[in-house]
Amino acid sequence: MNFIVMITIFIYLNIMFGVNSGKMQPIIIVHGGAGDIPESRINGKLEGVKEAVRVGYKILSSGGSALDSVEAAVVSMENDEYFNAGYGSVLNVRGEVEMEASIMCGKNLDVGAVTLIRDFKHPISIAHKVLTDSPHSLLGGEGAKIFALDKGFETVPPESLISENAKHALESSKNEFGRTEIGIKGDVGTVGAVAIDSNGHIAVATSTGGMSGKAVGRIGDTPQIGSGTYADDQVGGVSTTGHGESILKCCVAHSIIKYMGGGKDASTATTLAIQEMTKRLNNTAGAITLSKSGDVGVYFSSNRMAWAYVKNNKIYYGIDHDQTLVTDLNEK
Ligand code: GLY
Repeated sequence: MNFIVMITIFIYLNIMFGVNSGKMQPIIIVHGGAGDIPESRINGKLEGVKEAVRVGYKILSSGGSALDSVEAAVVSMENDEYFNAGYGSVLNVRGEVEMEASIMCGKNLDVGAVTLIRDFKHPISIAHKVLTDSPHSLLGGEGAKIFALDKGFETVPPESLISENAKHALESSKNEFGRTEIGIKGDVGTVGAVAIDSNGHIAVATSTGGMSGKAVGRIGDTPQIGSGTYADDQVGGVSTTGHGESILKCCVAHSIIKYMGGGKDASTATTLAIQEMTKRLNNTAGAITLSKSGDVGVYFSSNRMAWAYVKNNKIYYGIDHDQTLVTDLNEK
């Protein structure tokens, strides 16, 4: 093989796979919630998940960390009323927003989580601060608020987090209490992101307003490590969405990690854990997964789940079963 041909192959492999640079090809995958998503919400959700992966991938492609990337992707969806997180969170039985979020670093298993948090725009950023600046893992309610204020986060008026869609969802849930974001017309959806950075580190972030019409003080799966979120550089990362009480009983995120640790690929592991939970507890859920080698898993037992990931400068995305759409990363 002549020298020019060898150099050309080397450059191609480097661009496509990071070969010989010792670097991993970065990947980010996000979800925008599992549920009975009405037709009228499909487009907004798909645009929202595509925007979230663009935001997260920008950080990864400029050498940023997986942790910063998943936080930024989730912040993007917390700003978007099409999702049940931050602005647009569903409401508790009193018509108030009470949010939860968690984030995990697969390098050292550090975690940060908040629950029963109100009056802040970005619960995921407070969770990230718990990870970096607190000796604790999970802070709730008044304590989470004290911590956030101490770290410089500013409160917002409670009504500024409430969307029209969330008000309608509460009205529906009053007739159907006991059901969650799953099955309520006009529901939005928990959000999550999983990323691998160019150093091969994995991080996961998940954020939610929980369940429409929930009791004051109800805590779901999202802030619970092993249920809503798990990351381990030695195996992979998972973020879940769906019926919180069922997800936490089955520790779904960690079950998927266990399956992958036992040799299953990301897609099989994700499918098995969600199907088992659904069969055992008769409620639905979804999850997104990355293995340590960048293998992707997407599965949901609900009618729909918005998801998107970036690989090789393409965005792959979908919302219905057996649907994979593709667009260029830079195409809007
Ligand atoms: N999966 C979100 C919740 O049930 O709170």
